[in-house]
Amino acid sequence: MKFAIVLMAFGLSLVACGGSSSSSDKGGNPYSSGENSASGNASYDPHRGEGPWNADNVKVGSTLDVALAEQGHKIQEVKCASCHKLTEEKLVGPGWKGVTSRHKPEWIMNFISNPDPMITKDPAMQAQLELCLVRMPNQNLSGDEPRQILEFMRQNDGVK
Ligand code: HEC
Repeated sequence: MKFAIVLMAFGLSLVACGGSSSSSDKGGNPYSSGENSASGNASYDPHRGEGPWNADNVKVGSTLDVALAEQGHKIQEVKCASCHKLTEEKLVGPGWKGVTSRHKPEWIMNFISNPDPMITKDPAMQAQLELCLVRMPNQNLSGDEPRQILEFMRQNDGVK
């Protein structure tokens, strides 16, 4: 699929604000300074993030849970669409296209449940903050909402 190849080739530059492990980071690639604990991040796991979710308690199927994704879509329209597009294009925050390959499910659920500590501790989020200039506010998600949004993000990234 040509489209997909183009996306892969240009994805990182398009999501300037949402860059993942972008190597074009002029202020020093945060991923190359893993041993730098100057900011007291020694115990922070950039793959899991910080919060209640981990690889054991987040179960993700190989196919889409349609009902879950529909719920997630509804929340997205109300709470997230003002800042995030579903494409790779930046609005206030990074576009969501590809977010499920940039981050692990547990990272996404931890981040959207409580972005604040991760924006402070995650090297990738710090780099993003410099580009976005806005901290993502806590959206007060509760119950199953983080999981529903994750499923909708998977749908948006092509899981069927
Ligand atoms: C007021 C604007 C705003 C709203 C509303 C908002 N976000 Fe964000 N979001 C941001 C910004 C800005 C970032 C970039 C990280 C940072 O610097 O805070 C971000 C980052 C993210 C990321 C990380 C993306 C990546 O590629 O690394 C995810 C996931 C995310 N938001 C999910 C959500 C969800 C889910 C909602 C709705 C429940 C939401 N956001 C609502 C502004 C917003």
